Amino acid sequence: MARVVLITGSTDGIGRAAARQLAAGGMHVIVHGRSRTKVDLALAALREELPGGQLDGVAFDLGTLAGVKRGAELVLALAPKLHVLVNNAGIFAPERVLNADGIEATLAVNYIAPYALTALLAPRMIESAAEAGEPSRVIDVASVAHTRGRIHLDDLQLASSWTGYAAYAQSKLAIVIHAMQLAEHCDPAQLVAYSVHPGVIATKLLRQGFGPVQGKPVEQGAQAIAMLAGGVTTEPSGSYFDHGVATPPSSVARDANLRKALWDATALLAKL
Ligand SMILES: NC(=O)c1ccc[n+]([C@@H]2O[C@H](COP(=O)([O-])OP(=O)(O)OC[C@H]3O[C@@H](n4cnc5c(N)ncnc54)[C@H](OP(=O)(O)O)[C@@H]3O)[C@@H](O)[C@H]2O)c1
Repeated sequence: MARVVLITGSTDGIGRAAARQLAAGGMHVIVHGRSRTKVDLALAALREELPGGQLDGVAFDLGTLAGVKRGAELVLALAPKLHVLVNNAGIFAPERVLNADGIEATLAVNYIAPYALTALLAPRMIESAAEAGEPSRVIDVASVAHTRGRIHLDDLQLASSWTGYAAYAQSKLAIVIHAMQLAEHCDPAQLVAYSVHPGVIATKLLRQGFGPVQGKPVEQGAQAIAMLAGGVTTEPSGSYFDHGVATPPSSVARDANLRKALWDATALLAKL
């Protein structure tokens, strides 16, 4: 039976190219986006390109906790088995906006949503690992920008010091830490987690966040993800990958006390 992978934010950019690569490689891909119309358009294009591909779609907004909880229910109803979760969806916000939960939007979409979605789907992923006889995988799409980030434990919403870049870099540092914390908490025979910098890739996020920067093709970013989602790695759970190579994350991410403090603060924000 094909391994089942959910890729968040696979209606566009790197996620969409990763969906194509993983479906072409024989995985059963669940395409996700916030708009049902965009999910259906992406699915139709993929089905035309890959007539034998195993593809499903699901639409939900990662911008609020209610959206994430509803989305997890949709995924659990759609997928009796789930072997890989790629937390790929992300934003670079043009201004500081709080969501319906009172959480700053960058932190909400790029970090709190994947934290909550992973927690809600992990039991299904662990069951699926037992049957498959190999661990399920969480792939967190991070960024080299995490090395410029700080975790503002006393002000995660950056109420007093918000810039788009500071919020983005903090969220990407937090998602690197997420994979490391999952590795610490989970039995690696059941669930392993990695984070990955996909490269500087020409997408709408790159344009919105960084202006007219030259990016590489989406296929290149997708390869970095597909390698971890569909391939074999002997690197330990929790590793961060840059250009296909396990690389030490920033010194902040290597601070175990900071990681635990963030984990505890996140549990409160995610209200799980
Ligand atoms: N591009 C780069 O150079 C680069 C570098 C390092 C890391 N990354 C990371 O790579 C990941 C993918 O980014 P990308 O560059 O491919 O960006 P993108 O082309 O803008 O794609 C982002 C995807 O996330 C979805 N999304 C955004 N907000 C969402 C929400 N609230 N709920 C559900 N889905 C949502 C988008 O849906 P819509 O299409 O509806 O907006 C889209 O499918 C991100 O995590 C990003 O931080 C990118």
